[in-house]
Amino acid sequence: MQTRVLVCVALLSLPTAVLTDEPTALQQIMQDLGDNLAEISDGLLNHDLELTAKGAKAIAEHPKIPPEQVHLVAKELGPEMPVFKQFDVRVHNLALEISAAATAGDREAAVSGFHRLVDGCIACHDAYKDRIAAVLKN
Ligand code: HEC
Repeated sequence: MQTRVLVCVALLSLPTAVLTDEPTALQQIMQDLGDNLAEISDGLLNHDLELTAKGAKAIAEHPKIPPEQVHLVAKELGPEMPVFKQFDVRVHNLALEISAAATAGDREAAVSGFHRLVDGCIACHDAYKDRIAAVLKN
């Protein structure tokens, strides 16, 4: 898994400096998270816990933000950086919880985790989305 993450980081690092209209690396990661969140909810709505587990696992294992973007984010947020990271950790842990619940066939626990996951996504967006998007645009 470590290797795969590193490969993803390497791939995502390449084009960001050149392209302006393309999604930023973080933006691409986020678009994938949106798709994965839809898999979790589709799975719950259709009683397909395998799909729910798949989406949750993908969120838990999402690629890292490329180092140059981490640097830009850290520069913008300064002492608030740990708070930003904490939002990501919260989402990560909830995704693991949902994946485990779905794999164990515990739909109720997966539903409860799903609600808290959405809250976690939205909490970071309310606090940082626009601010970070503006910094990464250039
Ligand atoms: C640690 C903070 C953080 C967390 C947690 C987070 N996001 Fe985001 N999200 C962002 C930021 C910052 C952007 C803006 C990225 C940009 O425009 O470069 C964003 C943008 C997005 C976008 C818009 C992408 C686009 O096309 O412009 C989607 C969709 C999204 N996030 C989904 C999610 C989902 C789903 C979750 C939870 C599973 C989530 N995010 C959790 C920070 C976060």
